[in-house]
Amino acid sequence: MYKLGVRLFDHSYPIYIEKGLFDEIGSYIKDVAKTKKISIVTDSNVDRLYGEKLVDILQKEGFNIKKIVVEPGEKSKSFATFERVLNEMLDFSMTRSDLIIAFGGGVVGDLTGFVASSLLRGVDFVQIPTTLLSQVDSSVGGKVAINTNYGKNLVGAFYQPVGVYIDPNLLKTLDQRYLADGMAEVIKYGCIKDKNLFYDLLSYSEKEFDKNIEKIIYTCCNIKRIVVEKDEKDTGDRMLLNFGHTIGHAIEKYFNYESFTHGEAVALGMYMITKTAETLGDTSMGTSEVIKEILRKYSLPVLIDLKDRDKVLNAIGLDKKNIGKSLNIILLKEVGQSYIKKIQLEEIEKYIEFN
Ligand SMILES: NC(=O)c1ccc[n+]([C@@H]2O[C@H](COP(=O)([O-])OP(=O)(O)OC[C@H]3O[C@@H](n4cnc5c(N)ncnc54)[C@H](O)[C@@H]3O)[C@@H](O)[C@H]2O)c1
Repeated sequence: MYKLGVRLFDHSYPIYIEKGLFDEIGSYIKDVAKTKKISIVTDSNVDRLYGEKLVDILQKEGFNIKKIVVEPGEKSKSFATFERVLNEMLDFSMTRSDLIIAFGGGVVGDLTGFVASSLLRGVDFVQIPTTLLSQVDSSVGGKVAINTNYGKNLVGAFYQPVGVYIDPNLLKTLDQRYLADGMAEVIKYGCIKDKNLFYDLLSYSEKEFDKNIEKIIYTCCNIKRIVVEKDEKDTGDRMLLNFGHTIGHAIEKYFNYESFTHGEAVALGMYMITKTAETLGDTSMGTSEVIKEILRKYSLPVLIDLKDRDKVLNAIGLDKKNIGKSLNIILLKEVGQSYIKKIQLEEIEKYIEFN
């Protein structure tokens, strides 16, 4: 069992990581629930696999449960789903003392956290993350949001959970592509803050990886904890977590969110920016080669064909009206050491490889 405590200015909460923890979830929830009423939000995939078991366990502990199931995927981070989930909770007569459980990946976590922050001006919620990405990243740190027609995550809040309960065994049913997606973020933590994590990941056999999964998740959550404790509202150090993301987001947008998953785009972004940064003297030589090696090992892409220069730059927000504005990019000195570099928006062109 690995345990962490996130200590913020006015709020602290534990993160538990253990294989098989889900079987004991009843006793964890009993510790944080102030009443016997709980709303669970999950998506239909997670519900099919684990929904009945969660409800059973909690009912055996005497809880009165309302389970709300949303469609899987990004489309559920919408105003329409947000409203439906809130209405179902109001219909269940939730009070401010009751508890909400986010049971799923990052989509369910972000949506449910935002619901929890809004319902009756704030109801306690816990995260039971079920994807690798949500176990190492989105369930920790309190950023909750939905998407709008103007872009992703534009309406939301900083709203921390009262507990995060991570069972790596739940990942056994996760699709390979989503596992790789989460691995991009795991590798990112190694790149920005932890050389040992990086080289351990590079050396692990498949069996060793599985054996060490709790420690890997713990290491990632701990890095996120440290960064978030220093900069909860994302005005400084928390930006380091965006390594690979500026170019990654542009790649996702360039291909209309159809060709690459978020993790794949981040992988491409991490490799590309490090390779170009080496030639510009910002990063020590050889760093991009080991990043390429580790990304390949974990089935993530490194090669991309970006032909339309204007379209790429546009996706980064570089159009005439933004010339002269500044942009913070995240670079590595070397593996395990990252820094923020302020550049003029138009300089980003130097960090992108076009074909
Ligand atoms: N709040 C944050 O700090 C933060 C950080 C990073 C990403 N995010 C957000 O996270 C979201 C992506 O999260 P995600 O990658 O977890 O995607 P997701 O929630 O869409 O889950 C991916 C897929 O896996 C399925 N699934 C979930 N758990 C499963 C399991 N145990 N077994 C089998 N299938 C399972 C889901 O039904 C879904 O189809 C994005 O919306 C992104 O904006 C938020």
